[in-house]
Amino acid sequence: MTPHSSLQGLLADRHSCRAFKSDPVPRNVIETILTDAGRVPSWCNAQPWQVHVTNGAATEAFRTAMLDAFDTGAPNTDFGGPSGYSGARKERRQTCGMQLYDAVGIGRGDRPARTAQMRENYAFFGAPHVAMITSAAELGAYGALDCGGFITSFCLSAQAQGIATIPQAALAYYSDQVRAHFDIPGDQLVLAAISFGYEDPDHPANKFRTDRAALDEMVIWHEG
Ligand SMILES: Cc1cc2nc3c(=O)[nH]c(=O)nc-3n(C[C@H](O)[C@H](O)[C@H](O)COP(=O)(O)O)c2cc1C
Repeated sequence: MTPHSSLQGLLADRHSCRAFKSDPVPRNVIETILTDAGRVPSWCNAQPWQVHVTNGAATEAFRTAMLDAFDTGAPNTDFGGPSGYSGARKERRQTCGMQLYDAVGIGRGDRPARTAQMRENYAFFGAPHVAMITSAAELGAYGALDCGGFITSFCLSAQAQGIATIPQAALAYYSDQVRAHFDIPGDQLVLAAISFGYEDPDHPANKFRTDRAALDEMVIWHEG
């Protein structure tokens, strides 16, 4: 096993987990994941992320707050969401959505079931922990870029230690409620969360894997 093949194995095996067991992850493992995640590069080494990590009753209180936000609140985001998905991005979005609905047996026109599945985001898919990521407001898009690296590294370190993850922008769609819950100061923007814990491998929501585009769809070579 070379360093590269190890990394390739982690990249291949990591996937978004949408059903967790309730067992908590030991604190020292969570600390290792966070330390590993913090090794990513950031512009000027600013390390603009702040992370609110929950366990136990704190996860349950946050779960209750987020489910209430979804059930009764109006969506609001610190960063603003995508203005749209078009072309290949639209197709990929539809494909991964249909893969999930097919896996859990939700029919094409079944809107109530789709809403219920969407609501699972706000129950953190049963995860015992959430890491809510905020980014320094003054760094704008570049802070968010650095935080994206942190999120990816978090997921890979977790994968290497047998911990499943799912990054969730859905939780940032109630930024005001997240800010109020964690008392987040105005100089930090709510970006995304990662729910994590031990995967329930038998749950249908975890039974599909997404594809990736071929190189010629993403690369434009400029040969000398
Ligand atoms: C920044 C970010 C935000 C995401 N937000 C959500 C989300 O709110 N809910 C969800 O079910 N999946 C979310 N995902 C997971 C993506 O749908 C998933 O990464 C993508 O479909 C590729 O599948 P994979 O992670 O299993 O490889 C998010 C992923 C990223 C990187």
